[in-house]
Amino acid sequence: MIKIENLSKSYKEGNETHNIIDNFNLFVEKPEFIVILGKSGSGKTTLLNLLTGIDKPDSGKIFLNTTEISSLSEPGITLFRRKHTGIIFQFFNLLPSLTVLDNVLLPLELNENLNKTSKNSALELLSELNLKEKVKSFPDILSGGEQQRVAIARALVHNPSFIIADEPTGNLDFETADTVFNMLLDIVKKKEKTLIMATHNRDLAKYADRVLNFSGKHIEVTFNSGNYA
Ligand SMILES: Nc1ncnc2c1ncn2[C@@H]1O[C@H](COP(=O)(O)OP(=O)(O)O)[C@@H](O)[C@H]1O
Ligand SMILES: [Mg+2]
Repeated sequence: MIKIENLSKSYKEGNETHNIIDNFNLFVEKPEFIVILGKSGSGKTTLLNLLTGIDKPDSGKIFLNTTEISSLSEPGITLFRRKHTGIIFQFFNLLPSLTVLDNVLLPLELNENLNKTSKNSALELLSELNLKEKVKSFPDILSGGEQQRVAIARALVHNPSFIIADEPTGNLDFETADTVFNMLLDIVKKKEKTLIMATHNRDLAKYADRVLNFSGKHIEVTFNSGNYA
């Protein structure tokens, strides 16, 4: 569940205040695929950073499941994020000194939940993402598409409710982007997670249950009916 109430966020630049998000409301009851659409600088990352708690709103509230994350302390939000959120970045952000498997196990370690069962589910996830042969490799020898698939496994391994992806295919060639996006969407739907994905690619909006369009002064919300069974 996601509930956003009267959310506002602005940035000051000299004497000017830029309202990036102005009194925004949203209610998401069940797992959905939500696309945040908008050109560069429109505020997509700002909204994602508020949803992960990396950034704080000026005013308004964000509830993820039953927790009001906007009111948590810094350590509280870190713990919440570790347990309930998986994040996928444009530039993969894998740790170069760790193997593929160890990168994926990291969220389990941070949650003190690394055991035989959880390690096996990590291996299963890597296998679902066609990375079985790569588990012992280091990230730098992998292609961009492979690195992003590792990042997808890392985002899902601790079984979070929310997957936040910030232009996850923005650094991949057209064909690879297509493959990676389809794998991400398939796995997220199969596992019944909520995926919130920022993109400037309008073509991806048709796959979404809901689109938040940062097109003008307000965020316009549109629904695509029937996408989510
Ligand atoms: N920490 C910050 N301080 C000041 N301005 C910021 C900060 N973060 C983002 N902005 C500004 O907010 C606007 C939206 O940025 P962002 O959310 O990164 O857009 P997008 O992800 O859609 O490209 C931009 O004009 C950006 O310069
Ligand atoms: Mg951005």
